[in-house]
Amino acid sequence: MTFRFSPAVLIGCAVVSFATAYPANASAKPTGQELYERHCSECHSMKPPPKSAPPIVGLSHFYHQAFDDREAGVRHIMEFVAKPEAKKSKLRPPAISRFGLMPAVELSECDLRTVSEWLWDSYDPKFQPPDCPPQ
Ligand code: HEC
Repeated sequence: MTFRFSPAVLIGCAVVSFATAYPANASAKPTGQELYERHCSECHSMKPPPKSAPPIVGLSHFYHQAFDDREAGVRHIMEFVAKPEAKKSKLRPPAISRFGLMPAVELSECDLRTVSEWLWDSYDPKFQPPDCPPQ
């Protein structure tokens, strides 16, 4: 199955979330940080030491190395989170052998975009990835 994003849905993000996901309180549209805390922080710490997955600052580092363009990077994060596959990985190979392949996280397209943009923007230019531990 291929994961597709319809431009109409992406443009309609705010409207869709107001109408369906958060009908009671339109201002409650979650931020990237809130989505991270709810759906990702169990495995991903923000910074080293890692929990059961590489820290967010490291993910952002390798995605900024792999993509010059924010939109391309964000799209790739969205596709990976929705359907992780080893061949799509932009991390160093030991990440998957050390931590295992990430399980898919089910989110609405809007939440997926919000959290993926937040991850891309969590880039810290001063961060240096640690040496890979021996396998
Ligand atoms: C159950 C644990 C778990 C949860 C929850 C989780 N992840 Fe991960 N994630 C991992 C592991 C393990 C890896 C490293 C292996 C890999 O790349 O698949 C990873 C890797 C990644 C990568 C790098 C993919 C690559 O290899 O290029 C991104 C981006 C990512 N996670 C984003 C997220 C986001 C965003 C969320 C929340 C919406 C999330 N993860 C939730 C375990 C998790």
